[in-house]
Amino acid sequence: MLINNETIIKDDNELIRQKSKDVELPINDDDRQLLLDMLKYVDNSTIEEIAEKENLRPAVGISAIQLGIPKKMTAIILKDEEGNKVCEYALVNPKIISNSVEKACLANGEGCLSVVNEHEGYVYRSARVKVKAYDILQEKEIIIKADGYLAIVLQHELDHFKGVLFYDHINKTNPYYRQDNALMID
Ligand code: CO
Repeated sequence: MLINNETIIKDDNELIRQKSKDVELPINDDDRQLLLDMLKYVDNSTIEEIAEKENLRPAVGISAIQLGIPKKMTAIILKDEEGNKVCEYALVNPKIISNSVEKACLANGEGCLSVVNEHEGYVYRSARVKVKAYDILQEKEIIIKADGYLAIVLQHELDHFKGVLFYDHINKTNPYYRQDNALMID
């Protein structure tokens, strides 16, 4: 499906709050193609020439509900400063199976393809998570042990399955409230 800044649903659309359902495995061709299209979006979104031409907002992850499809699928690509992929996942039914007590947050706050307005403030999440999922790139069930930026991205994307957006976590009265001992990720 065509995925660009116009087809991605925003937080003024109540669909974004809908809960996503498990995807039946083995994955069918339509779901697989959707997930591959999502992955392609994320990849192309950080390639300037393509992003500009196709109206893509830069992203590290996208979940199916952002296209109005309430299925537990998410695509994530992290790249280094040269644009080389550091990790790449196309996940079906990802689930957090354990998480650290220690918290972490991004020093610059979070962003989201479905959020247009600025929402400044710290979003505290677990510093480390273990996620179990079926990855269609590796064609098997995997367990991702994530810390740092990847741990944050995974939790952000999995929140979309619950209809939760990053700014729901921001302290309303004191957006830059500093939690003791929480890691700051630059
Ligand atoms: Co998001």
